[in-house]
Amino acid sequence: MLKLRCLMCLLLVFTQLTQVQVQAQTRRVQVLEQGWKFNKGHQTNAYKIEFNDSNWESVTVPHDWAIYGPFDKSIDKQNVAITQNGEKEAAEKTGRTGALPFIGTAWYRNTFSVPHFEKGKKVILLFEGAMSEPKVYLNGKKIGEWAYGYSYFYFDISEDLRTGENILAVDVSNPEFSSRWYPGAGLYRKVSLIVKNKESIDQWGTFITTPYVSKTEAQVNVKTKASGDGISLVTKVYDAVKNEVGAKSSTTQFGNQFDQNIKVSNPKLWSPETPYLYTAVSQIYVGKVLKDEVVTRFGIREIDYTAEHGFQLNGKTTKFKGVCLHHDLGPLGTAINKAALRRQLTILKDLGANAIRSSHNMPSLEQLELCDEMGFLFLAESFDEWKKPKVEHGYHRFFDDYAEKDIVNLVHATRNHPSVVMWSSGNEVPDQWGAEGVKRAKWLQEIFHREDPTRPVTVGMDQVKAVMESGFASLLDVPGLNYRVHLYEEAYEKFPQGFILGSETASTVSSRGIYKFPVEKAAMKMYLDFQSSSYDLEYCSWSNVPDDDFVMQDDKPWVIGEFVWTGFDYLGEPTPYDHVWPSRSSYFGISDLAGLPKDRFYLYRSRWNTDAETLHILPHWNWEGREGEITPVFVYTNYDSAELFVNGKSMGVQTKNKSTPQNRYRLMWMDVTYEPGTVKVVAFDKSGHAVAEKEIHTSGKPYEIVLTPDRKTIQADGKDLSYVEVSVVDKNGIPCPTAANQLQFKVKGKGGVYRASCNGDATSLEQFHLPTMKLFSGKLVVLVQATQNPGDIILEVKGKGLKTGKVELNSI
Ligand code: GAL
Repeated sequence: MLKLRCLMCLLLVFTQLTQVQVQAQTRRVQVLEQGWKFNKGHQTNAYKIEFNDSNWESVTVPHDWAIYGPFDKSIDKQNVAITQNGEKEAAEKTGRTGALPFIGTAWYRNTFSVPHFEKGKKVILLFEGAMSEPKVYLNGKKIGEWAYGYSYFYFDISEDLRTGENILAVDVSNPEFSSRWYPGAGLYRKVSLIVKNKESIDQWGTFITTPYVSKTEAQVNVKTKASGDGISLVTKVYDAVKNEVGAKSSTTQFGNQFDQNIKVSNPKLWSPETPYLYTAVSQIYVGKVLKDEVVTRFGIREIDYTAEHGFQLNGKTTKFKGVCLHHDLGPLGTAINKAALRRQLTILKDLGANAIRSSHNMPSLEQLELCDEMGFLFLAESFDEWKKPKVEHGYHRFFDDYAEKDIVNLVHATRNHPSVVMWSSGNEVPDQWGAEGVKRAKWLQEIFHREDPTRPVTVGMDQVKAVMESGFASLLDVPGLNYRVHLYEEAYEKFPQGFILGSETASTVSSRGIYKFPVEKAAMKMYLDFQSSSYDLEYCSWSNVPDDDFVMQDDKPWVIGEFVWTGFDYLGEPTPYDHVWPSRSSYFGISDLAGLPKDRFYLYRSRWNTDAETLHILPHWNWEGREGEITPVFVYTNYDSAELFVNGKSMGVQTKNKSTPQNRYRLMWMDVTYEPGTVKVVAFDKSGHAVAEKEIHTSGKPYEIVLTPDRKTIQADGKDLSYVEVSVVDKNGIPCPTAANQLQFKVKGKGGVYRASCNGDATSLEQFHLPTMKLFSGKLVVLVQATQNPGDIILEVKGKGLKTGKVELNSI
């Protein structure tokens, strides 16, 4: 087995740059992916060289030890008042952190050898996140530790590495009451070893900005921190098709920093619509000998935030059509997987979203790479807590010792990503109260400014009245309001910035394909099945329905955009069912935990995706037992008006109007009585011409399983995924929207294996990695993972009394 995955250079990832790939003698990055041994529980001697780990579990990293479950209501059961939700009295909360077994201590060990290791090399051991409080040992000696599970951090292990075999041991531990959502557990992001010469560029030592941008030229400023005697730096800039478009050589350092300005003529600007990327290749020489080479992708773009124009990208006012995302990937847990991230972003592109907020912590580097490539603006957040606690064992324990280090690492590791256009130092921190908090806000913002003078800083604030009084909001570059649309106007008047960001909006709750009657707008509505209605009218006591935000976004030019809570459902925080069991994941998502769109997806899409037609009918039309009862029909569409027909009878024309926020953004027929058959909608353009139509039908009994993969061909890299949507149809091919059949999955062929499944039901206790699951509202998703052997893959899905579904995939 391949013990150690060697990458010839950090940036083989940038495959488009074949002619500038690095010679092996300059630097080598080894991603420690294979060959890990893992054991949960306390161990006294596991850091020692001679420790015998042969009976430990073999795992690959990234790894999330807790995602395999089982779900258990007693895990991290919190007897608390969630004060952020306005609760005054403590009550038992189950499922707040996902009810998965992430608590406790665990060890990882990896035995690796460093090929051609020579004394005198500089060796960095880099973690892109370890959940949490990692303690790191090499060859029996402690080499360092960190605290925050979301931080990137590294250690210089030049003195500790040995020729031949080395033993790395990492101890991680997650205390109870340390999170407000599922944090994951273990080495859930990449671990790598970077071996380079003494004369080399420092870790995260390159900082590229574009201080001057015009149609005809751009100034690319490259600051490079590098160490070693007698070094010089050559930086070359390449466009996306590998042509050299600029270069500079320097011999002078200021401190240990080179500062270069490179002119790029007729620059192609980066934006969500045109995510054009350049590459800088930085080479360190001693005399004529090449000692180090680092490849950095960047974009040429200009950002500006002003009272007059709001947020501008490349001179154009752009509103954030954003979503907040927690870091879990549903059935994969938190173990980072690029295919899963790419699928999320593909879904968000179709939604028409242009921005993401990494709530409430550092994003994965993979996510930022994809945002650069696919075109998303990024709000990178750091903390959910400062010094004042939200949860008993939260980040406040580390704030004094780590806040500065954590921010420095966040900025240094991610500042070259053109997608990142704003930092956030915190989310709804209780430090919004009191003078100390104002000082902390200032201190943190200044750290960001010191490390990166090019991007502004925000805080997601919920204590709007308090921050108005205290000056907390006034000192921020960008005042971010979480919810509280009723205070936007007052905040705009009182804050000096001249604009407001909806840093967190909506928190509308719904379960995919579930509809409740009567249809009414309500806060904290609960039902006996622990689901929320997909009529999209249910929200929390502190939040609102999407339409209320749309009014602000559309009518107030000084509102610079919104980040909806959330793009996808996530594990944990099952509001409004925090206190009942079983309920273990959120209802907030525009799409569910499986990534399947809820109705709300089409409401946002109808205004965000201006390139595509949206015409979506809800609810489904299988209401056996509701014959003759009022069953309102909503249509989410980009068209202004439409006529609805039930079994050919017109229910009248509805036209969007400003009488209420709902009437402005949805077409609603509130008095329809249910009869089985066909619902048809015909949409009209502005001049009243019928331009589009859509039908849904009452289905018969489930008959056949249908499989629809998002990708038929995947990479044989052991990590790539095909997401296969599984649904059932009746004898006539009509989808069965209420089917709940138990299904079994089998993957054959050498190219792939069964990885997980997910149906988006927040109350399901079925384990994702087992090859069986129930349909929820007629659907689920199966994840098929590539092996490292190219070849055929067949997914077969069976269910009692159903015609088997089969799909052929392959990996190359
Ligand atoms: C916000 C908070 C989020 C999440 C959300 C649920 O107040 O910032 O993390 O808890 O509420 O509505």
